[in-house]
Amino acid sequence: MALRCRLSNQRPSRLPPCSALDALLRSDVLSSDQASIIGSFSTRPPHRPLPVRDSVRFKAHEGKGILVTGAAGGIGRATAHLLAAEGARVALADIRSDALDAAVAEMGSADAFPIRLDLADPASIAAAVEAAEARLGRLNGLVNCAAVVVHADPLDTSWADWERIFRINLFGAYEASRLVAKSMIGAGVRGAIVSVASEAGKKGHVDSLAYSASKAGLINMTRVLSAVLAPHDINVNCVCPGGVATDMLREVSVAYGRLVGARPDEVFSQLISSQLQRHIEPIEVARTISFLLGDGAVIVRGQAINADGGDTPY
Ligand SMILES: NC(=O)c1ccc[n+]([C@@H]2O[C@H](COP(=O)([O-])OP(=O)(O)OC[C@H]3O[C@@H](n4cnc5c(N)ncnc54)[C@H](O)[C@@H]3O)[C@@H](O)[C@H]2O)c1
Repeated sequence: MALRCRLSNQRPSRLPPCSALDALLRSDVLSSDQASIIGSFSTRPPHRPLPVRDSVRFKAHEGKGILVTGAAGGIGRATAHLLAAEGARVALADIRSDALDAAVAEMGSADAFPIRLDLADPASIAAAVEAAEARLGRLNGLVNCAAVVVHADPLDTSWADWERIFRINLFGAYEASRLVAKSMIGAGVRGAIVSVASEAGKKGHVDSLAYSASKAGLINMTRVLSAVLAPHDINVNCVCPGGVATDMLREVSVAYGRLVGARPDEVFSQLISSQLQRHIEPIEVARTISFLLGDGAVIVRGQAINADGGDTPY
């Protein structure tokens, strides 16, 4: 219960509770009579976790060549899988070579291949885009999915952490977008670029200030690149996920738990969508990305689409 007041903000608060209201609502400071009176105000039925839905797969991306960064991670891997199932040839790029090879092997498709990429290094990005273009013939889409997160006291975030986070999450995404856009313009491709931002980029999280700021930058970059690339009919959007059950969220739970003295599994279990009553699955974010890469999304331009199960109202 003490975690509830910031759950609407997608991250649990420090313990002890973050507001007087929270303290009031804690059942351990109420008599059982008071607690049952407060409980009796609910007009809603019990809310169980909503099941993950199946979806029908169409060949929406037949013949397209798409580069996915962060493709060895949870959301990137699910996205690469989905795009391949929808007919795309996919270049999977990531810094972790072994995990990348495993992701490609798991797909078992001749149309999927790995490219080692370090987004903190512009030369590596240029080489990766060139390799993807050479193998795919042309690039119709880019998914900027790779990122790193660091949790730290907001007044003690190191220069090195700021630099690392911004290099990978923002500068790297810009460099990849720039080079892929030029490739599309040169080839006359009416493509799409989708970046994975975060609800943190809209709300900002106190304990991951630099990460939140990098995602806010990504949202702003999306807006500007959309306008810049519109004359070439290259559509640019981003998605803002909430708590997705991936290694990153587990890493967040450990780091955050250490900061506030809470158990990682307790933190992890709190990072759920209030409407879904569960974590978001990577495939669900992948479906939103797939939509934004497609022709059905041409009137959605420069947007930061919430993919957080309903918790962010703007
Ligand atoms: N999991 C969540 O709850 C959540 C919520 C909001 C936004 N996001 C965003 O979703 C995206 C995917 O995250 P995920 O949850 O799948 O995490 P993940 O950690 O599973 O995947 C991130 C991937 O990025 C790769 N990467 C890190 N540094 C790199 C570098 N220098 N060069 C190339 N690749 C690098 C990692 O190796 C990893 O495979 C990220 O942009 C993340 O910020 C995740």
